[in-house]
Amino acid sequence: MDKVTIWAPAKLNLTLDVKGKRPDGYHELETIMQAISLKDKITIDKANTIIVNSNSSQLSNDANNLAYYAAELFFQKTGKKAGVNIYIEKNIPIGAGLAGGSSNAAAVLLGLNHLYQTKLSLKDLAELALEIGSDVPFCIFNRTALARGRGEILSPLPGGHTLKFLLVKPNFSVATKDVFGQLDLDKIKRRPNNEAFIKAWQDMDLDNMALEMINVLEAVTVSLYPEIGLIKQKLLELGAFSAVMSGSGPSVFALFKEVNKLKTAYDYFVSNYDETYIVSSYIRSE
Ligand code: C5P
Repeated sequence: MDKVTIWAPAKLNLTLDVKGKRPDGYHELETIMQAISLKDKITIDKANTIIVNSNSSQLSNDANNLAYYAAELFFQKTGKKAGVNIYIEKNIPIGAGLAGGSSNAAAVLLGLNHLYQTKLSLKDLAELALEIGSDVPFCIFNRTALARGRGEILSPLPGGHTLKFLLVKPNFSVATKDVFGQLDLDKIKRRPNNEAFIKAWQDMDLDNMALEMINVLEAVTVSLYPEIGLIKQKLLELGAFSAVMSGSGPSVFALFKEVNKLKTAYDYFVSNYDETYIVSSYIRSE
């Protein structure tokens, strides 16, 4: 086999809590991560060097692109003297809090393991993935999970639900490092109760899930970009029963109980923001 195609789904943080700052400079997280149906398509071919191309002018083709970096790391760690030709069909907004780059990197690791028959376990790949970024281990498994540590200690949630979300990405991007840099742990007002969220998830109790859909980074990003707060407010006005920012932002996602309200809100937002989507929770076999 010389060529494989792997889907690379985006993720949402259904909840996001920061427990403290670590001696290594990262933050201790407790976040519920959910893969969604919005996805990139990654095609990889055997080659002699690493080459990255895409349909997006915003993506770099060198090691600044996490897909390139993943390939470099894979060959370094496995000792394979080989290369790969990577093509990224980009659908996930960039710099959006949706783990687009992380997901591409995980897809490259999965694809190379397959292409070069290196037989690394998912656990081995997840370890390699953490060297690329905190969200990359989650993207190896793509199972709804509580993530702790930097994001790599993953406890899958029991059962899988198909939830529909309206996702709005404002016309600007946010650097994760800047948001964490401005986070003052003493100023956090509302935190999610992840235990209560998981209980509600098990019972498929949407109202109690919504109560815990809180992201402690949201206040920081909203103070930098007030437009995110306005998007949230409009989503709630249009009938969402929960609207929350994903990751370090700026994307906001919302849950609706009534399909007609979801559609009306979609029509409203898509006329203002090109990157507006109706997405559902992702199931790996899709
Ligand atoms: O791991 P990754 O490179 O994706 O993280 C980007 C930035 O986000 C880090 O440089 C750090 O500032 C911040 N971060 C953090 N704690 C985490 C994950 C990310 O402080 N658990």
